[in-house]
Amino acid sequence: MSESTVFCTCTHSEKSTKYSEIEKVIELYRDKEGSLIQILHLAQEIYGHLPLELQQFIASSLDIPLSEVSGVITFYSFFSTKPRGEHTIRVCLGTACYVRGGKKIIERLSEILGVGLGETTKDGRFTFEIARCIGACGLAPAMMIDNVVYKQVNVNKLESILAQY
Ligand code: FES
Repeated sequence: MSESTVFCTCTHSEKSTKYSEIEKVIELYRDKEGSLIQILHLAQEIYGHLPLELQQFIASSLDIPLSEVSGVITFYSFFSTKPRGEHTIRVCLGTACYVRGGKKIIERLSEILGVGLGETTKDGRFTFEIARCIGACGLAPAMMIDNVVYKQVNVNKLESILAQY
């Protein structure tokens, strides 16, 4: 089963509307230098992520090999081939946070969310990732949900933090 079949929850008409928006973006940028990254950015904004089927569509529209498109997506961490959750949780595993229990935070969050690192919860609410220092070392361990930083986190605070979302 292909990646897009597993993860895409769009209806057929939502999907074709998104594809036609992406087609317009491709037309707009096709002859500009460095356009592939720009196109991928906008395509991800429109579609939410960049599944294989969409990568193939972009490659054939631009008349370039699929490997070129996939290579760029793999290289840059801000591109995602899987749908992202409504909120992104990033637990810091920089040195200060690691030493002060960051790993325990990850283990407990993984239990609560029912997913591992790099995954999105089944209800689509949270994507769970790690970060390498988020600038709160003095109050480690720290984590972020979207743009909000939580300092001196401990495993007992996690459920009440998540309940705010
Ligand atoms: S190491 Fe975690 S905030 Fe700096």
